[in-house]
Amino acid sequence: MSTLFLKRFLSNPFQVASIVPSSKELIRRVSRKLDHSGPRIIAEYGPGEGCHTREIVRRMHPESRLLLFELDADLCVHLQKQFVNDKRVSVHNMDCARLPEVLAEKGLTHCDYVVSGIPFSILEKAKKREILTNTHAALKPEPHAAFVIYQVTNELRTRGHCDHFAHAESEWCFINLPPMFVTKFFKSANGHVVNGKNGHRTNGNGAH
Ligand SMILES: C[S@@+](CC[C@H](N)C(=O)[O-])C[C@H]1O[C@@H](n2cnc3c(N)ncnc32)[C@H](O)[C@@H]1O
Repeated sequence: MSTLFLKRFLSNPFQVASIVPSSKELIRRVSRKLDHSGPRIIAEYGPGEGCHTREIVRRMHPESRLLLFELDADLCVHLQKQFVNDKRVSVHNMDCARLPEVLAEKGLTHCDYVVSGIPFSILEKAKKREILTNTHAALKPEPHAAFVIYQVTNELRTRGHCDHFAHAESEWCFINLPPMFVTKFFKSANGHVVNGKNGHRTNGNGAH
């Protein structure tokens, strides 16, 4: 599986942005950010060859749904083969910015979690903003709902790109090549959605 990942990196280095899949330790740290005690709607951005996906699938509730968004067509074929017998999983060979559209097509209003491995730090500002706005809008306005990212830099948090989320928690995972920050952005604080740095409160789905 790593060979396919390396091949896809060599074919499109700026999109795939990593030569090896995430380590077991990083996968463990990311997966423990999700509460699987009930049915959840989960989206994963940039699953690659599926290392985080397999762990989410292993842990998730029988009635949960997992929507995978992967731009690379060859990786999508590989993902489809892996999860063909699991009706909870759907593979979407498209830009993750289209999450709200895919949720609507499936008759779903929101999701509980979005897990992302896409290389935000090398995305253009407008694309970054589109993905982050749509992600915020797609999450349930409930305290558990969250956007979980693993990134080499913590710029989404430190440079204010995710200030429309209510609050965030970060940890550092050095047992990975390269070491990564794992950050969990919550949509809601105490049951209220908070938009912007000044904490303007709404009770709905507002994104910045
Ligand atoms: C660094 S790899 C991460 C792969 C895997 N999740 C892991 O942890 O090993 C980033 C993946 O995101 C995908 N990707 C990049 N931009 C994307 C976008 N806008 N929408 C969906 N997938 C994207 C790439 O094709 C690549 O497979």
